[in-house]
Amino acid sequence: MDNYYSSAELEALGIKKIGTNVKVSRKASLHGCDRMEFGDNVRVDDFCFLYGKLVFGSYIHIAPFCFLSGGDEGIYFGDFSGLSFRVSAFTRSDDYSGGTLTNPMVPEKYRYKTVKKELYIKKHAIVGVGSIIMPGAHIEEGVAVGAASLVTKPTEPWGIYTGIPAVRRERERERDAATREGISGRNRTRDAINTGCRPRGERHAA
Ligand SMILES: CC(C)(COP(=O)(O)OP(=O)(O)OC[C@H]1O[C@@H](n2cnc3c(N)ncnc32)[C@H](O)[C@@H]1OP(=O)(O)O)[C@@H](O)C(=O)NCCC(=O)NCCS
Repeated sequence: MDNYYSSAELEALGIKKIGTNVKVSRKASLHGCDRMEFGDNVRVDDFCFLYGKLVFGSYIHIAPFCFLSGGDEGIYFGDFSGLSFRVSAFTRSDDYSGGTLTNPMVPEKYRYKTVKKELYIKKHAIVGVGSIIMPGAHIEEGVAVGAASLVTKPTEPWGIYTGIPAVRRERERERDAATREGISGRNRTRDAINTGCRPRGERHAA
C-alpha cells in the first residue's frame, strides 16, 4: 500500500479542496479536514499533526513531526514555502500568566484571554528544524527562520531570523532563486501563484 493517501481517500476524509499531486502521509493525523485546502504539489510527511483551518498554496513541503494548529483563524501557506522537521505553528495560545483558566476542556468564558490570531507563512518562506511560530508571528515572503528559533512577532520580507526570541540577522536572504525561476513579483508565470493562500479580501503584495 502507498505511504500516502490517494486523492479519492483524501476526498473521502472530507478535505475541502485538493489540487493535483497532493501527498499526505497515512501516518499524519488530520482533524477538521473540512477546513483544509491544498493547492498543487503539496507533501505532508509522517507524524505531522494537522488541526483546523489550513490553507496551502502550491509546491509546499511539510517535513515529519510538524504540528500545525490552524483553529478557526487559519494558517495560510504561500507557494514554495516549507517547514523542516518538528516545526510547531499555532493560531491560538492560552493565557499562561495565571489571569484566566487554561486548556481546551475548560469553557471558553473562563479562558477569555486566549490569544487568537491567523498566521501567514508566505511564499518562499522556510522554517528551520524545531522552530516554534506563535499566533500572528507572520513569516513574510522569502524569510528564513533558523533552526530552533522561537518567532513571537511578525517578520519582515527576506530576512533571516534566529534565536529565542527570534531576531533579524544583519545578512539578508538571497532572492536569486525565486527571481531566476520567473516566479516572483511581476514575472510570475503561473496563475496559481498565491492563489488559495490568503483570506478573501486581502490584496496581493507582489
Ligand atoms: C540560520 C541559518 C540559515 C544561518 O546560516 P548562515 O548564514 O550560513 O550562518 P552560519 O552557519 O555562517 O553561522 C553564523 C553564526 O550564526 C550562528 N547560528 C547559525 N544558525 C543559528 C541558529 N539557528 N540559531 C542561533 N544561531 C545560529 C552560528 O553559530 C554562527 O555564530 P558565530 O558567528 O558566533 O560563530 C542556518 O544556520 C540555519 O539555522 N538553517 C536551518 C537549517 C535547518 O533547519 N535544516 C534542517 C534540515 S533541512
